[in-house]
Amino acid sequence: MIKRLFAVVLAIGLGVTAAWADSQRIPFPKDYRSKMVNYLSLDRTQNEDQIIRLFTTEEALAAAKAGGELPDGTVIVAEIYKAKKDKDGEVIESALGRRIRDKFAAVAVMQKGKGWGAEFDDAHRNGDWDFAVFKPTGERLVKKDLNKCRACHAPLADTQHLFSLEHMKR
Ligand code: HEC
Repeated sequence: MIKRLFAVVLAIGLGVTAAWADSQRIPFPKDYRSKMVNYLSLDRTQNEDQIIRLFTTEEALAAAKAGGELPDGTVIVAEIYKAKKDKDGEVIESALGRRIRDKFAAVAVMQKGKGWGAEFDDAHRNGDWDFAVFKPTGERLVKKDLNKCRACHAPLADTQHLFSLEHMKR
């Protein structure tokens, strides 16, 4: 009996985690290049062979500048590029000491929705933000474990779970 109960609890537990892991509530933000502002572009700080370009809306930038919470419905788009490498597989640096964009690899998205955070445990909760990742063509990368995104951004409670909040204030 206890064993069976344990199995049920385990199944429910796994079910919940799996539901988070492959959540599809964020759609591909198709017109972000024309509708959003490219507020920051840089060599990625935790990925040695990637470059990132960040976009969000004027409304979100205004809220950040005013020192407030970004509004529900805010979308942040991160274009991820591979960095150019030489024939030995080493990342090439430009005369500026910066990486050079090569293949456009993925579109990572954060979106904030009222009440979205309620289902997560503390280690995976990012306020009311959630995460998604797509191919540049808009096809969802369903095999990516979104709990990795959630776990890495979750500790940043002081900056609304964003690494780049200060760069939005301008
Ligand atoms: C190991 C840590 C880590 C993981 C895992 C991670 N990110 Fe991030 N994320 C960062 C960092 C650091 C930045 C700031 C830019 C940079 O250096 O790459 C960032 C920036 C972002 C931004 C721009 C907003 C902000 O926080 O500044 C979005 C959107 C984003 N990530 C989405 C995702 C998605 C979607 C996933 C999962 C597919 C993911 N991230 C996984 C560390 C992480």
